[in-house]
Amino acid sequence: MTSDNDWETVSAEQEQYYNSVAEGYVNWSHNRVEKRLSAEARKYWLVDCEQIEMLRRKVIPSQGVVAEVGSGPSRLDMFSIKELLCIDISFPMLRQARLRHQDRALFINANSQAIPLIDSAVDFIVCSELLSHMPDNLCLKSISEMFRILRSGGMFLLIDSHDPSTSFARIEGDVQWRKTNGGEELRVYKKYRSLSWFLEHTQADITDSYEGRFLFCIVWQKK
Ligand SMILES: C[S@@+](CC[C@H](N)C(=O)[O-])C[C@H]1O[C@@H](n2cnc3c(N)ncnc32)[C@H](O)[C@@H]1O
Repeated sequence: MTSDNDWETVSAEQEQYYNSVAEGYVNWSHNRVEKRLSAEARKYWLVDCEQIEMLRRKVIPSQGVVAEVGSGPSRLDMFSIKELLCIDISFPMLRQARLRHQDRALFINANSQAIPLIDSAVDFIVCSELLSHMPDNLCLKSISEMFRILRSGGMFLLIDSHDPSTSFARIEGDVQWRKTNGGEELRVYKKYRSLSWFLEHTQADITDSYEGRFLFCIVWQKK
């Protein structure tokens, strides 16, 4: 089991796993979750996806610098964002993001716990399905790093899952065994936290939130 202090190992494991599934990931991941749910559960899943999509359309700005942290291949290609930064620990994921955004974005290969940007560099942050891949201390370190690079008055959109039944992996506590594109099983850290956990641990104003059956999101505004 990965300990809370073993952060280099956790990051290295994420990188190895996400490198191996980068190709085809953007279609593969959500379709795979949807397929394994019962017809009843799928209805809730689709409602969650729809609500979150509505919120994304409401809050993601077209002006200013938007940073997507743990971007993967990036799900922001339908937004016309003038200055988009895709930040990810996995280089192959950034290559997929580049295929989608081409020269409409900048790509930064970095760990969310140490983002190579100056304070207040960005106007808006999107962080989707990243923090559940970290133990508490690293999750909090990433949140404070994201708030550090966000300007005062800027917004932070967090999206994550809080229900293990969306997982397509073998689960052992906070560790999952996930198959790569080649069929090999790799260890991935995954902890399902509730919306209220984030509210308890983060001092910032909340401007919007949604708590669904499988997914939740929070919009914070930096003071
Ligand atoms: C579950 S995927 C989510 C991708 C995308 N945000 C989405 O919603 O589809 C998690 C992404 O976070 C990246 N990642 C994992 N740990 C990271 C870290 N410590 N710093 C930056 N990126 C990380 C992975 O490489 C992967 O692309």
